[in-house]
Amino acid sequence: MLVLGIESTCDETGCAVVCDGKVILSNVVASQEDLHAAFGGVVPEMACRRHIDVIKPVGQKALTKARITLEDIDLIAVAQGPGLIGALLIGTHFAKGLALATHKPLVGVNHIEAHLYASTMDAEPLFPALGVVISGGHTALMYMRSISSYECIGQTQDDAIGEAFDKVAKLLHLPYPGGPPIERLAKKGNPFRFPFKAGQMKGKPFDFSFSGLKTAVLYAVRGQNGNKRELSDLSEEEKRDIAASFQRAACEDLVNKSILALKEFGCRSLLLGGGVSQNRYLRSLFENKVPYPIFWPAKGLSLDNAAMIAGLGFHIFTQDGPHSYTFDPFPRIPFNLTKGAPDDSLNSHLSTPRFPVSSASNQLSKK
Ligand code: KG4
Ligand code: ZN
Repeated sequence: MLVLGIESTCDETGCAVVCDGKVILSNVVASQEDLHAAFGGVVPEMACRRHIDVIKPVGQKALTKARITLEDIDLIAVAQGPGLIGALLIGTHFAKGLALATHKPLVGVNHIEAHLYASTMDAEPLFPALGVVISGGHTALMYMRSISSYECIGQTQDDAIGEAFDKVAKLLHLPYPGGPPIERLAKKGNPFRFPFKAGQMKGKPFDFSFSGLKTAVLYAVRGQNGNKRELSDLSEEEKRDIAASFQRAACEDLVNKSILALKEFGCRSLLLGGGVSQNRYLRSLFENKVPYPIFWPAKGLSLDNAAMIAGLGFHIFTQDGPHSYTFDPFPRIPFNLTKGAPDDSLNSHLSTPRFPVSSASNQLSKK
């Protein structure tokens, strides 16, 4: 089955052709990094305009690269959310238009689930698994019985981890997105010079907080009252050490909480998804500290892309059948929810995929 995937949740426009959920025939991504770099973050209105300009040529390129035409496509899968509402409207309308005009079936795909699915596209994961979502918009730990049945056991209370990298990069006058330049700067830095620590939430051992860490970096850069020094007062060595110490603190927190959750919930493996999973320091920390099989997204599948949408769309269609052409995009997922528990009832604002209502870690059978 040939699936055309469409992704437009934030600042990447993606179209991809994937066969039977696994074999990627094309995966075209038009990044908007250049557009938003000057602002140090995504400007939603500009993102939407760029999606409109490029979505059709990106779709055409995906078909050409896969050496097929639109007629050969069996299913259209589109990221239904979460994301920027304007950006989502463009992707979903494009998908609906194509599906209506060609009488093809359509499914909406949860972008976060797709990030986790990405790590399983070239492997068979072991369930139950711990899903670790680490992107620019989300940080969450999921107890996963399968890709379509999971419960959120922890999430960030403030910034997402990728967002923290982006904000710290801005403090250090590094370009957007901040993850890659922080990682580069940190390579030659001393990760233990600054005793930075990520936040711990009382009574919520699997939740995250990165805003205090970001403030600690601000103080290290600007002095204790936040404006005593300019960035130019810092030596290159200090900047490298700040980047390395921040990266260590953020990544250690993620690894420590993941290990705790793996043990607590008796998981058999770890699935990682989202842009921050590209970070080599994070990867080696996980590989060295976690004595469980770890599944990473393959090259081209960490950052936002449409291959993961097409891949998961195939499974949604084979399980649930097509979705109605009238579904709405959803900008936010209530992340403390469960999906696929036997007693769930459905959120009224969604068609499929389902985002059930009962929660969370206290319902899980602990090891
Ligand atoms: O998954 P993604 O494309 O976007 C969302 O769905 O939100 O991830 C983008 C995020 C950005 O915050 C970016 O700074 C971060 O991933 N990122 C990294 C690295 N590469 C990208 N963070 C740390 N280290 C990296 N090498
Ligand atoms: Zn994403």
